[in-house]
Amino acid sequence: MDDVDDRSVHLMVTSPPYPMIEMWDQQFRNIDEKIDQLWTKMNREGSCDKQEETLGGIYNLMHESLAQVWSETYRVLVDGGIACVNIGDATRNINGIFRLFPNHAKVVEHCEKIGFVSLPYILWRKPTTKPKYKGKGAFLGSGMLPPNAYVTLDCEFILIFRKGGPRRFTPKDPARYESRYTKQERDKWFTQIWDVIGTKQFLSEVERRAAAFPEEIPRRLMRMFSVVGDTVLDPFLGTGTTLKVAMELGRNMIGYEIDKEFKRIVERETHATKAKSLGAKVELVNR
Ligand SMILES: C[S@@+](CC[C@H](N)C(=O)[O-])C[C@H]1O[C@@H](n2cnc3c(N)ncnc32)[C@H](O)[C@@H]1O
Repeated sequence: MDDVDDRSVHLMVTSPPYPMIEMWDQQFRNIDEKIDQLWTKMNREGSCDKQEETLGGIYNLMHESLAQVWSETYRVLVDGGIACVNIGDATRNINGIFRLFPNHAKVVEHCEKIGFVSLPYILWRKPTTKPKYKGKGAFLGSGMLPPNAYVTLDCEFILIFRKGGPRRFTPKDPARYESRYTKQERDKWFTQIWDVIGTKQFLSEVERRAAAFPEEIPRRLMRMFSVVGDTVLDPFLGTGTTLKVAMELGRNMIGYEIDKEFKRIVERETHATKAKSLGAKVELVNR
């Protein structure tokens, strides 16, 4: 994010590719040569202790690659600026062993090391998530017999971090008052469990590939943690959901996306939103 000045962003809202979720494997391999080499090595090793070690190495490298982005985010945030990271844990059967990769814990670990202050997080319960494993029925494991069944992951995390102490405003700051939420909104949004359903009915193949979050997620986060005229950053833009919402809410926006195929969708979304936009400045960077 060389082109973004230090202390120039007020809020980051993003959802990165999730480590150890199969659909993102190739992207991590493309981004980091070491990850690619370790995958090849692991496939060669077959099931053994060494393979376990290699797997741990891949998982750590994937998070180190994301941590570079969290570190840059820290740099560009203003003091008191907030970073919201939507991430899900991953479950996967590797070497014949079913296991959990607790991605949320790794992100917390890295962000705290970078200097972020952890704040209470949100659990986004996705009512559409069906417990399923390799196409087999509902719950994972052996029918009704203990003890080898697994709990289904039906929540994702929305981790919330801040750069230092709370942001300071002058008394009666007009943008802050213009951005106020209602008591009903506050009571609903500042609780730990959010039941938010994905809204899009028809998704193109490219949109499915991005695993877009519903607009309601960035909309709530922007209303909770930024004011009109602020600058919002999404380093993993995908189809541009955050960008669209930022425009609607009168926030300026900087977004990055590595996959050029999303450009067309982002432009379509941006164009459709322009009419409703409150004059936000938008910058899309294709790396
Ligand atoms: C989970 S998706 C984001 C979905 C997005 N929130 C939406 O609503 O469409 C993650 C995105 O990050 C992009 N990505 C992965 N690595 C990247 C990198 N190093 N720089 C920029 N974008 C990256 C992927 O191509 C993918 O579109």
